[in-house]
Amino acid sequence: MMEYFDIIQALCRSALSTPNSAVVQQVTRLQTALKKEGHNKEAKSLESLLISSQKSLEMTPSKIKQSFAIGKGDELTSRTPLPVDKETSTPLAEIHFGDDLPSEIPIFEDNIKEAIYSIITEWTKFDKLLEIEAYPASSCLIYGLPGTGKTHLAKWIARQIGLPVVLARLEGLMSSFLGTTAKNIGNLFAFADRYNCVLLLDEFDAIAKLRNDPQEVGEVKRVVNTLLQCLDSRKDRGFTIGVTNHETLLDPAIWRRFDIQIEIPKPSLTVSISLLRKFLRPLEFADNEMKLFAWCLEDSTGADVEMLAKWIKRASVVDKDMTISLIVKQFALLNSGRVNEKKRNIILNSDEEFINALIEDDKYSFKQVDIAPLFGMTTSSLSKLKSKMK
Ligand SMILES: Nc1ncnc2c1ncn2[C@@H]1O[C@H](COP(=O)(O)OP(=O)(O)OP(=O)(O)O)[C@@H](O)[C@H]1O
Ligand SMILES: [Mg+2]
Repeated sequence: MMEYFDIIQALCRSALSTPNSAVVQQVTRLQTALKKEGHNKEAKSLESLLISSQKSLEMTPSKIKQSFAIGKGDELTSRTPLPVDKETSTPLAEIHFGDDLPSEIPIFEDNIKEAIYSIITEWTKFDKLLEIEAYPASSCLIYGLPGTGKTHLAKWIARQIGLPVVLARLEGLMSSFLGTTAKNIGNLFAFADRYNCVLLLDEFDAIAKLRNDPQEVGEVKRVVNTLLQCLDSRKDRGFTIGVTNHETLLDPAIWRRFDIQIEIPKPSLTVSISLLRKFLRPLEFADNEMKLFAWCLEDSTGADVEMLAKWIKRASVVDKDMTISLIVKQFALLNSGRVNEKKRNIILNSDEEFINALIEDDKYSFKQVDIAPLFGMTTSSLSKLKSKMK
């Protein structure tokens, strides 16, 4: 097949010149397969085609909108009055339109990205599937640890579909007045069902928290039942995305209502490095510096990577002469929950011990020439230090 790669590449290029999610998905599949088989050069060239097509896809959301006809409802505008909690007058949701929604897909492993593209393909062809009585999935539950990019992903999906988002935090719907919570949920769904929108139910676990309160049993039952009924009746009205950190606490009946369930894992090392590069932009760092940052980020989430990047940027402006090891030390000291405990103990040791741990790290195999500049040393002073330690 590889002898025909030129032709395959040309085919992909011309298919991607009028991008649509189905083509993007298939080219992504091909790119993943090539990468798996070790055809890195070919996989890279498809990746750059995909990146440029992604950019043009983002610039033309109206194309997606044309093929999307589930919405027979009213159009949401910034003047549409929001549903409110009757007792407190607090709005039950926020509305986000295309331009306030993220235009870049979060960075995930290829297999997760592929699965996400397949949902979008299905959702953008909703009307065609309905014509042939194939009932596509219309709801999706995104779950995983805090800070892994779930809310960002949900908003990005909505932007791809080309509809505004009605964003409700379930916590905000909970009322201290008995019975109001169920009413709020009913009003929220009635609002979402009336307009063309994606309903995004963020922090779904709030309901689970309620369940743990023994005094609230009756009320909780009512809330869960209302939610179940609302989810059922919304099925053929519009898209619903639920987001939660504690999927195990969710009522199994609610869980089952979602046609698709996507687990977002913690980022792998490669994903963490891509995230770090993205968040550090426009700054660029040498390979040895990136390697130390990545070493610190083991076990961290995307939100932790974002914090470290902010920290590095700040440090590079405030004190240009600060060594990379000092930046990392200060980060570990003042962001204790964001750095893996074992790594944190190493970082907060003396420089000698920190250096030693890096040299002995099997996974990262730091060399002395890599490490010395990170600690503001020359390679020979580092070797001297090392022999003194022995
Ligand atoms: N994989 C990722 N790609 C790009 N950005 C990410 C990723 N993971 C996290 N982030 C960034 O980290 C921040 C937190 O992400 P987000 O709010 O989507 O996380 P979450 O999973 O919804 O967290 P929580 O469960 O705490 O609500 C955002 O600024 C987001 O852009
Ligand atoms: Mg979130």
